[in-house]
Amino acid sequence: MKKGRVLGIETSCDETSVAILDVDFTKKTPGVRIVKHVVSSQIDIHAQYGGVVPEVAARTHVPETVALLTGMLSKKDPLNSFDAIAVTKGPGLATALRVGIQAAQTLAWTSEKPLIGVNHLEGHLASAWLVPENRRQWQFPALALLVSGGHTELVLMKDFGKYEIIGSTRDDAAGEAFDKSAKLLGLGYPGGPKISKHAEKGNGAAIDFPRPMIHDPSLDMSFSGLKTAVRLEVAKVNKMTPKKRHDLCASIQRAIIDLLVYKTIKAATLHPVKSILLVGGVSANKQLRLDLDSAIKQELKGVKMLKPAVGLATDNAAMIAAAGCWSLVKGKTSDWRKIDAEPELDLS
Ligand code: KG4
Ligand code: ZN
Repeated sequence: MKKGRVLGIETSCDETSVAILDVDFTKKTPGVRIVKHVVSSQIDIHAQYGGVVPEVAARTHVPETVALLTGMLSKKDPLNSFDAIAVTKGPGLATALRVGIQAAQTLAWTSEKPLIGVNHLEGHLASAWLVPENRRQWQFPALALLVSGGHTELVLMKDFGKYEIIGSTRDDAAGEAFDKSAKLLGLGYPGGPKISKHAEKGNGAAIDFPRPMIHDPSLDMSFSGLKTAVRLEVAKVNKMTPKKRHDLCASIQRAIIDLLVYKTIKAATLHPVKSILLVGGVSANKQLRLDLDSAIKQELKGVKMLKPAVGLATDNAAMIAAAGCWSLVKGKTSDWRKIDAEPELDLS
């Protein structure tokens, strides 16, 4: 398929999302337009438990997926609202993934349109491709810093679909470090946006949190030690004043960003690339965007930083449809009968 409408479905964790993209691969720079896009977040439901409860997530996806699809597809001719379907097959929560997959299978069977099972992580890579300016500047080889709630990976991208993981976290993901630190500070879930908001008013040098593995020769990272250090620091606080909270948040954020930026620049120095992608939920972080951008400008002449729109950094179906397009244009589709949830799927 070179031209047409792609329906995207995402239910891997706590966001139910559907989208329709209009795609034209006949142009030199592919034309991609988000025609319709909705994200229904379950954050309020899971916030009361302090994190995502898989069974609750899956049960909530069922009515949401039906409601969002019925609202999005044409009333008169729903099965002709799209030319192909892209659905997240993994990684993620098995039962949550299955909700989206079964909806997609039903639509593929009844419409007889092609279906693509998409790797959620490739979806995050494609989130940057949804920005028109990025598509014009996109050049391989590229390096992606993929930072989300479940993953922290440095991915060498030789082409669409050709990936090599050259560094990753050995324990917690960067998003998890934000979430767990926020929990210790009583800030609620998800922690990233909350920590970064408080950090705006704080001093990042107030507390010298560890940057584990920063001097390790590998491109791997580690964040679990930070959580322990935050716990010890919080235990020392007699009275949590707003200033103390702001300084703690700024120092936590500083430690996470320092490690991410350092390892990304090191990776691009060892493996010369033409573009650097900053993607995944944590890429919504303003300070990380600023710091990585200025480090790239300083250390890697001529390398462009490509990032998604802030609203498309966290989980959404537009990025899943976009990644689906990368497979569709190569003629790679899946047999709808054979797609199943792959909770542990990785990129290479
Ligand atoms: O990509 P995503 O929506 O879901 C996964 O695939 O995991 O990422 C969610 C993660 C959460 O850990 C959340 O705390 C983090 O992204 N996050 C942020 C920000 N917004 C979301 N972390 C730091 N700063 C932010 N502004
Ligand atoms: Zn994600």
